[in-house]
Amino acid sequence: MDKNTNKIKRLAVFSSGGDAPGMNAAIRAVVRTASYYDLLVYGIYRGYEGMIDGEIVRLQKGDVGNIIHRGGTILKTARSERFKTKEGRKLAYEALMANDIDVMVAIGGDGTFTGAKIFHEEYGIPVIGIPGTIDNDLYGTDYTIGFDTAVNTAIEAVDRIRDTADSHNRLFFVEVMGRDTGYIALNTGIGSGAGAILIPESTIDVETLIKHLENTARRQKLFSLIIVAEGNENGNAQKLATEIKSRFPEYDPKVTIIGHLQRGGAPSALDRLISSRMGFKAVQALMDGETNKMVGIQNNHMVLVPFDDAISKSKEIDQELLKMAEILSL
Ligand code: F6P
Repeated sequence: MDKNTNKIKRLAVFSSGGDAPGMNAAIRAVVRTASYYDLLVYGIYRGYEGMIDGEIVRLQKGDVGNIIHRGGTILKTARSERFKTKEGRKLAYEALMANDIDVMVAIGGDGTFTGAKIFHEEYGIPVIGIPGTIDNDLYGTDYTIGFDTAVNTAIEAVDRIRDTADSHNRLFFVEVMGRDTGYIALNTGIGSGAGAILIPESTIDVETLIKHLENTARRQKLFSLIIVAEGNENGNAQKLATEIKSRFPEYDPKVTIIGHLQRGGAPSALDRLISSRMGFKAVQALMDGETNKMVGIQNNHMVLVPFDDAISKSKEIDQELLKMAEILSL
């Protein structure tokens, strides 16, 4: 690998939006790779909020030791309303210029990349994105950082609920995160052997759900686990449980919302690996003069996906997987 022969001298890295397990591994990879190329590396705290407020600090190789296994993000994160304004972005640009930042690596989801794209159009600072969100909802990459860990956490939780559901012959609605998409729900449902999976991409009505429950009851399967994505269009887990109870009093459904438990904890092996590869690739892309692209992983190969595609194209749920989940639950 060639050492740095181009004009880039100072690189800044930040995390933005919801945190995701593996972000630290990505930060570590960015800092170590950039240091290898003799770049000066800076960390921006609290995403775009910290950029506006000038919270920019020098990061050395040693500063990212002992973090690969830690959840959250050492750089902190935020959802910034101020960066959506022209005034906010102007302040951010001034803060970056005060530190002579040449290029940036943004770790986050579609909101982060939308901000980065607008910022690049206005101020021309090259930026490469790393997909960091537990939702796995970005077009152009098979995985986003944190998704695998979140699914593992959710499956572990459902395994525990299964024990008590089985003991009491109860019906449980378990709600998982995923905003408007059902990737976490689908994978959690398959991996935990759920009785049904309700996701925004394929909504089933309450009647069909009841029919499904009756079918399984007929073969003496008396308890059931229903995984509900938070963005499910028939409503959340609590609403569904209330509806089932009012119409079918013989059921006494219980509700568990896994919530932010899915966002924390040590990153899985897969998340550490893809985060490291993405961080490495992001710096190399900037060294090659790339900008406005997201690093992605497709069929185990690293790729660069234009921000425009990552943001605006939708990643379709695998219908075969959905069908399979249904067949396996019968
Ligand atoms: O995008 C990640 C995510 O965890 C979504 O699954 C969820 O809808 C959202 O963030 C929650 O955001 P916050 O922690 O800001 O309430």
